[in-house]
Amino acid sequence: MSRGTYYITTPIYYPSANLHIGNTYTTVAADAIARFKRLTGYDTFFLTGTDEHGQKIQRLAEAKGVTPKEYVDEIVAGIKDLWKMMNISYDKFIRTTDDYHVEVVQKIFKKLYDQGDIYKGEYEGLYCTPCESFWTETQLVDGKCPDCGRPVEKTKEEAYFFRMSKYADKLIEYIETHPEFIQPESRKNEMLNNFLRPGLQDLCISRTSFNWGIPVTFDDKHVIYVWIDALSNYITALGYGQENDELYKKYWPANVHLVGKDILRFHTIYWPIMLMALGEPLPKQVFGHGWLLVDGGKMSKSKGNVVDPVTLVKHFGTDAVRYYLLHEIPFGQDGLYTSEIFIKKTNSDLANDLGNLLNRTIAMINKYFDGVIQAPTAKEKIDDDLIKVAIEAPSKVEEKMDNLKIPEALDEIWAVVRRSNKYIDETMPWVLAKDEDKKERLGTVLYNLVESLRIISVMLSAFLPETSDKINRQLNVSLATWDSIASFDGTQAGTKVGAGEVIFPRIDVEKKLEELSKLQQQQKEKAAASEEPKMEPIKPEITIEDFEKIDLRVVKVIECEPVKKANKLLKLKVDLGGEERQVVSGIAKYYKPEELVGKYVVLVANLKPVKLRGELSQGMILAASDEKDKLFVVDPGKLPTGSIVR
Ligand code: ME8
Ligand code: MG
Repeated sequence: MSRGTYYITTPIYYPSANLHIGNTYTTVAADAIARFKRLTGYDTFFLTGTDEHGQKIQRLAEAKGVTPKEYVDEIVAGIKDLWKMMNISYDKFIRTTDDYHVEVVQKIFKKLYDQGDIYKGEYEGLYCTPCESFWTETQLVDGKCPDCGRPVEKTKEEAYFFRMSKYADKLIEYIETHPEFIQPESRKNEMLNNFLRPGLQDLCISRTSFNWGIPVTFDDKHVIYVWIDALSNYITALGYGQENDELYKKYWPANVHLVGKDILRFHTIYWPIMLMALGEPLPKQVFGHGWLLVDGGKMSKSKGNVVDPVTLVKHFGTDAVRYYLLHEIPFGQDGLYTSEIFIKKTNSDLANDLGNLLNRTIAMINKYFDGVIQAPTAKEKIDDDLIKVAIEAPSKVEEKMDNLKIPEALDEIWAVVRRSNKYIDETMPWVLAKDEDKKERLGTVLYNLVESLRIISVMLSAFLPETSDKINRQLNVSLATWDSIASFDGTQAGTKVGAGEVIFPRIDVEKKLEELSKLQQQQKEKAAASEEPKMEPIKPEITIEDFEKIDLRVVKVIECEPVKKANKLLKLKVDLGGEERQVVSGIAKYYKPEELVGKYVVLVANLKPVKLRGELSQGMILAASDEKDKLFVVDPGKLPTGSIVR
């Protein structure tokens, strides 16, 4: 019987590049929660997806020479593969380019406009013309465009705004009277004190400077700027505003939006205000988890510290990665990824604690009872504590999960794992096996171990589904429901266990670390090689009058020789059409003297003469170079010498 509905979401990720371990973290956590809710009897809906519009994606597509849709299609396919590999049990994958989403977002925009919550105004910002991007003061780097390094200008653009201010007081009151709404608690105060109480500014929600977005139906030079589009996904995915809104009626309001702390503000301020304006109920909770940090900092491609989940899974398997993410990062706080801790934890918790428990149990049943699980007919006092720990665990795990304490929930499961290993040490089955009179007792001890493992496996199915399946298969478990682990008797005597199989092979720490660090180095080199050359910033503006001060002439090189004791310089004699000049030029690295003789080049003819290494230079030859290994003198074609370049 269903205990009610449960709706959980992840952020919809930008398909601008392949996802990394950070996005994987959120999704794996949401998956564990969703699986746990299903396991414990909730009718659960788990949504994830991709946020596909915006200028950044448009640019990336242009740079690649494909349409934005083609660009995102490819990345989204990769994201779906990643979720398959990570065993993500989503019920729906929404793409903001899906037709139904686009239509409903347009309807939402229109409705809010018609009721006066959206108005047309002017967006004033610092604009980088070549990048067609607005920036805020704080986004600038050294006062320049953070993307291209060029100067920005104060510019105005017509834009639509959402009257956030109108709802601010209502939202403050809501947050104050619903302490569970923003979690963890510390983030609630941050939202109130840093954003809401100082006064909310209206939010700019349209753009005219790019077009990869959902058009405003009644003013189609505008596209809806990402957040209205993106946040709506949580309800459009359920059929809100559509003919069939059964899922919406059933699952909304969401039980939890799980997001990283970077976007908590959008989810706890803009999203609830949008919903208030639409007259819809607010989500019950927004949970902002912390950052997964790598070597103490944020992941970045150029640092070469982006941790690729696909690589990790290839080396260690899906559940080792899931376990690390779920257990080693305090949920709600920042946590560190290092390969060393990852490998050590995999060895200690998975290979040693859990893997050995399973292996020893299976091996002993095979060895002493031809693989057949015996009935527990010879109980002893010493069993009581193991049984108590095992049957009390499910409610403890559930209590932790109710508060989204995922690592602590796993700790409760491992308490049973460790208690079971201790039970093996206490009961010493290999000693019992030596005594024919203790055969029944030996059978009971092994039954208790199998039953503990069954309980562990059922609980684990939410967190490490593949491992849980493997344990069930090896033990031939027939009863794997949540209800069946409330008592210690779900294992059927007479069941034959399978062959033992190692679920987590022990990893050679040093060897694996070396392998991984080599891989990372390769990744870093690849990233460096593919990095686009940064364009030199354009110099400050000049007028045509400034330019006309420069006298540029087509000249022909008639003689050329190296300058003694100056290996960079060549001395050229050029014909200006009625006058000959001597010019010294720093191009010896790129041209042999004989290559230049007879060539037509462009000369800055009115440059003040200078002496270089004792040689007079009356002008300068124009050349284009990349500062490294290439330089070409500018070729004006074969115009008469003396022709003016303008
Ligand atoms: O913000 N540690 O998408 P996004 C932990 N499209 N989590 C991390 C992380 C890290 N180092 N890096 C990323 C967007 N994340 C919007 C969301 S929702 C309506 C629109 C996770 O691709 C974390 O959950 O930038 C964060 O909130 C999310 O990825 C941002 O993903
Ligand atoms: Mg982001």
